[in-house]
Amino acid sequence: MQDDAGHSEQQDAYMHEYDGALTEQVIAGRTADVHGAFFLPYLRAGMDVLDCGCGPGSITVGLAEAVTPGSVTGIDLEESQLARAHETASGLGLANVTFETADVRDLPFEDGRFDAVFSHAMLEHLPDPVPVLVEMRRVLKPGGLAAIRCIDLDGTIIAPDDGRLAAGHELWRKYRQHCGGDAFMGRRLRALLREAGFARTVGTTSSETWATPERAQSMSSVMTDEFTGPKIAQAAIQMGWADQAELEAIAHALDDWGTHPDAFMAIVWGEAVGWKEQTC
Ligand SMILES: C[S@@+](CC[C@H](N)C(=O)[O-])C[C@H]1O[C@@H](n2cnc3c(N)ncnc32)[C@H](O)[C@@H]1O
Repeated sequence: MQDDAGHSEQQDAYMHEYDGALTEQVIAGRTADVHGAFFLPYLRAGMDVLDCGCGPGSITVGLAEAVTPGSVTGIDLEESQLARAHETASGLGLANVTFETADVRDLPFEDGRFDAVFSHAMLEHLPDPVPVLVEMRRVLKPGGLAAIRCIDLDGTIIAPDDGRLAAGHELWRKYRQHCGGDAFMGRRLRALLREAGFARTVGTTSSETWATPERAQSMSSVMTDEFTGPKIAQAAIQMGWADQAELEAIAHALDDWGTHPDAFMAIVWGEAVGWKEQTC
């Protein structure tokens, strides 16, 4: 059963495997320079920053470098990701970053603790984002800022395609909604920040591209892993979105695309920064 927004009965289940290729080859390779570029201009040495849903921490460590001698706290629900984040920070010898298990819906920090709160690729997985942004605003100092980046699947370009990759993309969108998230959250960030009480907001977009032989090959194997893995396949068959033969056709199309000399894929990220009002 699906509601008007495409949400089905399975809600609030993180859509990716924590030990899958997507986490290993895509998520863990993100950096503050690229994925936090819209946020870095607002950071200053000495700031105290919170990273919500930090995952394996590859962006978090770059934020810590940017605010030294300030500090960054990364939080996530998933222990395996926090262990990995710890390892990355220790490997870099960073003493100004800590990682804690916490739920973004109920932050274990006092009001007004942080200068800035960041969240990357997390909010689009949650069914009810406004209370999360209200929590983020609560832990900000007056005048502090929240910076959010979420994908918007309407911005995906993939070529060449005979239609099978478009079918795969549609399945991906359905699966995201099925897990309780919003595949099109990138465009809603300013509205959500405003709804959560942020006084002033600024929106931007940026894109990410896979269009070299190495990157196309890597993205092809990541996506094949997702489409042949248990999570999407099981949901697709259970919900009647695709049968086994269609799933295999998508996997074959991804294989072919990964070795195609003209393979080109790009995604669009929505970004927004919102400021908590100053008190007199
Ligand atoms: C797609 S990953 C993004 C990780 C990292 N921010 C990045 O972009 O590289 C989303 C992360 O949000 C975490 N997450 C999901 N729901 C959460 C919640 N309610 N509280 C804290 N973390 C959560 C997941 O465990 C996962 O590690």
